[in-house]
Amino acid sequence: MNENLIKEMIALAMKQLKFSYAPYSGYKVGAVLLTKEGKFYTGCNIENAAFTPTNCAERTAFFKAISEGEKNFSAICIVGGKDGRVEEYASPCGVCRQVMMEFCNPDTFQIILAISKEQYEIFSLKELLPKGFGPGNLS
Ligand code: THU
Repeated sequence: MNENLIKEMIALAMKQLKFSYAPYSGYKVGAVLLTKEGKFYTGCNIENAAFTPTNCAERTAFFKAISEGEKNFSAICIVGGKDGRVEEYASPCGVCRQVMMEFCNPDTFQIILAISKEQYEIFSLKELLPKGFGPGNLS
């Protein structure tokens, strides 16, 4: 991936932390989803007093994009940390990995975990969800 694009996504993901609604865990997450056409969809985590309706930042970004007709995605950038302090990688939960599996090619979809514009790691979906179950299993 182009390094300037990665840095742009990291900066945008960081900006989403201020929108995070996390009064229960205090763990704020920001995400930016990149379509194959180069459009960004942002997301933050949205918690709930009943706990289970909580939506992760990644799924917020995906559902915003899907609900606007997007189907082709190339990468997502995720940042997060307690009280919005990004000090370690915020790795996507299993449910979010499964949502990615529904809409993304596990070999090519890139997951950028970042601490800063200088400190980040990139994984394919397949690396984070080996032997995943997806739409292909039902076709
Ligand atoms: N969270 C995310 O937004 N993304 C993840 O993949 C991991 C967890 C959120 C959900 C909840 O609001 C908080 O982080 C603590 O679990």
